Amino acid sequence: MQSIVQTNFTGIDGLIIRNEPRPALTDNGVLIAMETLPVVPSDWHKETDPNATAEQALQLPRVIGIGGVGTVIEVGHNRDQKLLHQRVLVMHPKGSYQEFILNTNSDWLFPLPINVSNAEAATLTAGPGVALALTEFIKQNPSDHLVITGANSVIGLILCQLLGSTYPGLTPIVSPDSQAYFNQSLPGYPVYSIEHLQLFHGRTLIIDIAGSEPLLQQLIAAVPRASIASIALQTSNLNVPFTFVHEDFNHQIYCHLIKTVASHKLWLPIGRIFSFAETKKAQHYAKDHHSRGRVLVNLN
Ligand SMILES: NC(=O)c1ccc[n+]([C@@H]2O[C@H](COP(=O)([O-])OP(=O)(O)OC[C@H]3O[C@@H](n4cnc5c(N)ncnc54)[C@H](OP(=O)(O)O)[C@@H]3O)[C@@H](O)[C@H]2O)c1
Repeated sequence: MQSIVQTNFTGIDGLIIRNEPRPALTDNGVLIAMETLPVVPSDWHKETDPNATAEQALQLPRVIGIGGVGTVIEVGHNRDQKLLHQRVLVMHPKGSYQEFILNTNSDWLFPLPINVSNAEAATLTAGPGVALALTEFIKQNPSDHLVITGANSVIGLILCQLLGSTYPGLTPIVSPDSQAYFNQSLPGYPVYSIEHLQLFHGRTLIIDIAGSEPLLQQLIAAVPRASIASIALQTSNLNVPFTFVHEDFNHQIYCHLIKTVASHKLWLPIGRIFSFAETKKAQHYAKDHHSRGRVLVNLN
């Protein structure tokens, strides 16, 4: 089988396709033929920086990706036999960009209902979970104004939906190029660009999804009593209270998110879809373009 492997820190173009034997089924394992994989910013960050994420430093070589969607083709003796032929979302932090994954942890496996597409389920990886963590942080840190940078991002659009358009003080910020996309994605939601932001009075919580220090500096100048909760920057030299918010994986949260998507209470932004062989192209596309939904890679 083929897998996409990082062997150095030279960036996207350093990725290689490796051929290796497909994993053998074990009694505690479930073998999945992978179909759809998400392309997320942490992919290309990790490809240049061993300490790009809050977890331990990366060991190379490694198969890239942390999750995806596929169909169960073999089930081990000790696992639920009803999983056979089920479409599943699987978390696989050891590397999901491979044609077959052997899942041995039932907490990391989620059978999918018929009305959740592969693309939607793949988009649930690395995004909605941290958006939920942000809603919890917002609840615990009430403020008069809630500014969201990178509001048109995949996570931003999900967070805005979780909060609702009438959330008190909601001030999503997008770049001028992304304003029309945001309006089309979430009609009726307020949206601003930094140039049109009024001076704020009262406490302002800045939810930072864009991860741009210059943008945060500009915002702080317009907001006298600001604090920042960022999911994109782990530290900051800005002279205001700063918290890095991250997702702690929780099986129940993913079950809840799948149900929320299945019942059409949450819409997930889906972008361009590339083939497995085009993984480098897919990462370049996602990195070099404005965010227009989650970029995906299909294996068939
Ligand atoms: N802490 C965690 O647990 C966790 C989990 C998942 C993801 N993340 C991080 O969360 C961030 C967002 O992820 P995502 O998948 O939602 O990203 P995404 O869809 O690619 O969106 C990135 C957003 O950042 C904006 N942006 C980028 N550079 C900017 C700049 N210099 N100035 C202004 N805006 C800028 C983009 O605006 P345009 O589209 O207008 O260019 C876009 O809104 C990433 O950094 C990712 O690594 C953290």
